[in-house]
Amino acid sequence: MTRREPGSAAGGRHNPLRDVRDKRLPRIAGPCGLTIFGVTGDLSRKKLMPAIYDLANRGLLPPGFAVTGFARRQWTHQDFGEMIRQAVTEHARTPFRQVVWDRLVEGVRFVPGTFDDDEAFDNLAATLADLDRVRGTSGNHAFYLAIPPSAFPVVCKQLARTGLAAQGDEYWRRVVIEKPFGHDLHSARELNQVVNDVFCEDSVFRIDHYLGKETVQNILAMRFANQLFDPIWNSNYVDHVQITMAEDIGLGGRAGYYDGIGAARDVIQNHLLQLLALTAMEDPVSFHPAALRGEKVKVLSATRPVGPLDETTARGQYTGGWQGSQQVVGLHEEAGFDPDSATETFAAITLEVGTRRWGGVPFFLRTGKRLGRRVTEIAVVFTRAPHLPFDDTMTEELGRNALVIRVQPDEGVTIRFGSKVPGTAMEVRDVTMDFNYGTSFTETSPDAYERLLLDVLHGEPSLFPVGQEVELSWQILDPVLAHWAAAGTPEPYPAGSWGPESADSMIARTGRVWRRP
Ligand code: BG6
Repeated sequence: MTRREPGSAAGGRHNPLRDVRDKRLPRIAGPCGLTIFGVTGDLSRKKLMPAIYDLANRGLLPPGFAVTGFARRQWTHQDFGEMIRQAVTEHARTPFRQVVWDRLVEGVRFVPGTFDDDEAFDNLAATLADLDRVRGTSGNHAFYLAIPPSAFPVVCKQLARTGLAAQGDEYWRRVVIEKPFGHDLHSARELNQVVNDVFCEDSVFRIDHYLGKETVQNILAMRFANQLFDPIWNSNYVDHVQITMAEDIGLGGRAGYYDGIGAARDVIQNHLLQLLALTAMEDPVSFHPAALRGEKVKVLSATRPVGPLDETTARGQYTGGWQGSQQVVGLHEEAGFDPDSATETFAAITLEVGTRRWGGVPFFLRTGKRLGRRVTEIAVVFTRAPHLPFDDTMTEELGRNALVIRVQPDEGVTIRFGSKVPGTAMEVRDVTMDFNYGTSFTETSPDAYERLLLDVLHGEPSLFPVGQEVELSWQILDPVLAHWAAAGTPEPYPAGSWGPESADSMIARTGRVWRRP
């Protein structure tokens, strides 16, 4: 008797269960290399290097995988390897294994140079050609631009000049772009033009790391795998939506990036508008990338700020105070920030989505640094029941029903509804029903960058916004930014609070209140 492969069907018949199982296993990337520009920055150390190692540790990188760093420092390959090793030991999600590390470090290269240095880019091209030979990367290369947008044009030009951007029939070239993708609609259009002159849109992967989070992808699963939610997911039942991304950290050490950018450009333009798009979009006909991204484009095209902007938006700047038991300084005392800096560290805006499904439903978005606690959530808050057959004495003041998608840190979904308090009287009070990732699944979630890097290597673009989404997001935000630029300095708020008072009055004017997660 011959032994069958586990899962293989008798007589070679097609076994549908086997396909199902195969889809659940992450695929190993084919032969390829990843070149990182901006390799000495924080993102690279804290996110990219650890993610590469974690993928290697999970067996998802090909045997000959190569990582090449390009930066101004006069490092050797060994220096760069040492930097990666430190980053991995400090920040990787999975345990350090010498055997995995030894294999990975064999494919590590470093090319010193500046972006305008032709010779350095010629060296880079020679290094990658050598890797194709000795590591078997087969001409497949992704270029990760973890650099300021002002450097995109020169790097793209150099990649074109050296032939590194040119696709072949037998191999691929891809470019991965970190935010910020411009600082307004005009600059985003220019950047898209610069990138698309060199790489075709199919080879461009714009990173929004929120889309790599499991809980964010689960918005689609929850909405489109179930029959329960869709009938009430519209203006007949939804009173408003609150999208909150609160952080307790301050901006120490990030002045170089953040000063002059501010909370709205840093996270509303990308992460929060992507969360809105996933919450408000229509169902895609399939999970084909074009179908999915097409629906996001439609909903972003229909989204605009509600005015008047001095009443429907708020912005603030944190001052010193207490964050839990820790005393912290205000933005103006943080190293690198101009004492007169008008950069906002808190931003709240009101949007409307002009579609049949959402007409008249406000979407309130807020984000801030040094807030009461770290939490990102989407709260869909429902209209009140039209009639309550209870005496006033029977109920506490009932809140509205709400469905809260807890993106992080306590990942899950909560539904809030009124329930009878046990006892002889008909007393009703709000309760919550919880789904927790931690208790429902044994698997831990990969980091967002692990998922997204692997998708780049596979050429799987679904979780990367297209150029049009980025431009539409700026189009939504630009009027708000222009209004703020003309409106003077942001309002101070104490560290550890929930933002400036104007944020509370902004929502209170509409007869609603912010959730205090
Ligand atoms: C980044 C922002 O995109 O997201 C940071 O630039 C922010 O300011 C970070 O702190 C938050 O990411 P996460 O995954 O910790 O919520």
